[in-house]
Amino acid sequence: MDNLTISFFFFFFFCSSVVHGLLRFNGGSGEFKILQIADMHYADGKTTPCEDVFPDQMPWCSDLNTTAFVARVILAENPDLLVFTGDNIYGPDATNAAGSLDAALAPAIASGIPWAAVLGNHDQESTLTRQGVMQHIVGMENTVSLLNPPDGADSIDGFGTYNLEVYGVDGTNFSDKSILNLYFVDSGDYSTVPIIPGYGWIKPSQQQWYKNKAAQLKSKYGAAPGVAYFHIPLPEYAKVNPSNIVGVKQEGISSPVYNSGFFSTLAATGDVKAVFVGHDHLNDFCGQLTGINLCYAGGFGYHAYGKAGWSRRARVVSVSLGKTDAGTWATVKSIRTWKRLDDDNLTAIDDQILWSP
Ligand SMILES: *[C@@H]1O[C@H](CO)[C@@H](O)[C@H](O)[C@H]1NC(C)=O
Ligand SMILES: *[C@@H]1O[C@H](CO)[C@@H](O)[C@H](O)[C@H]1NC(C)=O
Ligand SMILES: *[C@@H]1O[C@H](CO)[C@@H](O)[C@H](O)[C@H]1NC(C)=O
Repeated sequence: MDNLTISFFFFFFFCSSVVHGLLRFNGGSGEFKILQIADMHYADGKTTPCEDVFPDQMPWCSDLNTTAFVARVILAENPDLLVFTGDNIYGPDATNAAGSLDAALAPAIASGIPWAAVLGNHDQESTLTRQGVMQHIVGMENTVSLLNPPDGADSIDGFGTYNLEVYGVDGTNFSDKSILNLYFVDSGDYSTVPIIPGYGWIKPSQQQWYKNKAAQLKSKYGAAPGVAYFHIPLPEYAKVNPSNIVGVKQEGISSPVYNSGFFSTLAATGDVKAVFVGHDHLNDFCGQLTGINLCYAGGFGYHAYGKAGWSRRARVVSVSLGKTDAGTWATVKSIRTWKRLDDDNLTAIDDQILWSP
């Protein structure tokens, strides 16, 4: 190869590795905004009926209403990252898992915005295994999802546990540092231990990976706040004082019976300031427990149980930067959240600050 060919090779190599998966704070607003979509429960599209809407709405309601809501809320918020926290498809009713995933994620892909997904407990109940679903997801356009962390793929339980780094504003002293760390975890499906009924849990191998990753990030970039996304609520969600929450608790907390200790692991490590899950469609609250915010997104999909008259919804997280003495964008100043309802105005509710240093 001559010099020109070599520089072209490096140019393209550099470009593609930068474009794929590089997340960065916006230099105009000093913000990084994440839109969480929980429990789309997508099945076969227009032939799949809605659940829990008013009887007179039933004839005109299908998965396509979920599609329309995804497109509308993306347009309204214009986020930097979309996060799908599982039960993206409702396996038992999806006749073709790959086709259902493609249809469910089509409006996300059409937006051109990077997106990440994790698995719920229903994604594998169609024609693909959990590994198959996650493999299909990581092959889709614009996704920053990973099958598992590249540095621990053989030793970690589940599929779709990984982290993403969000860099400081270009041209500042933080442009090559991750100043916000995102963790995505496969919270499993069902218990495989005969004497323990109910849902699965976050395994020791995944917690060990998280601890190592958090330590690695801290030594590489310095301390930075983090947030975690997964599907099934931790048992500690039930310990949040219901008189001190923003949002509503309208049903029980469907966490695993067995507490594998991920909350304690997060608390001991200290970087994760908020956890965001789905799974319980009628809970959409955020509440604090020993300094960690435990949040639900609330149900999004129409082919999912819900409550007629209580709008389907999505959760937004907006992370804002402070400024240096020189007036340039610095590190994280606040983590804020609100929700958007699928009504005529896409009403925003429950705006709150979750964390500031
Ligand atoms: C579902 O979408 C149809 C077609 O746009 C609309 O007429 C109907 O009101 C929607 N149903 C609900 C419950 O949002
Ligand atoms: C980067 O840091 C140096 C040393 O602290 C400081 O002098 C400089 O103004 C900073 N640059 C920006 C763009 O903030
Ligand atoms: C939407 O906004 C309009 C105009 O502000 C208002 O009249 C209407 O009541 C709102 N609808 C809902 C569902 O909030």
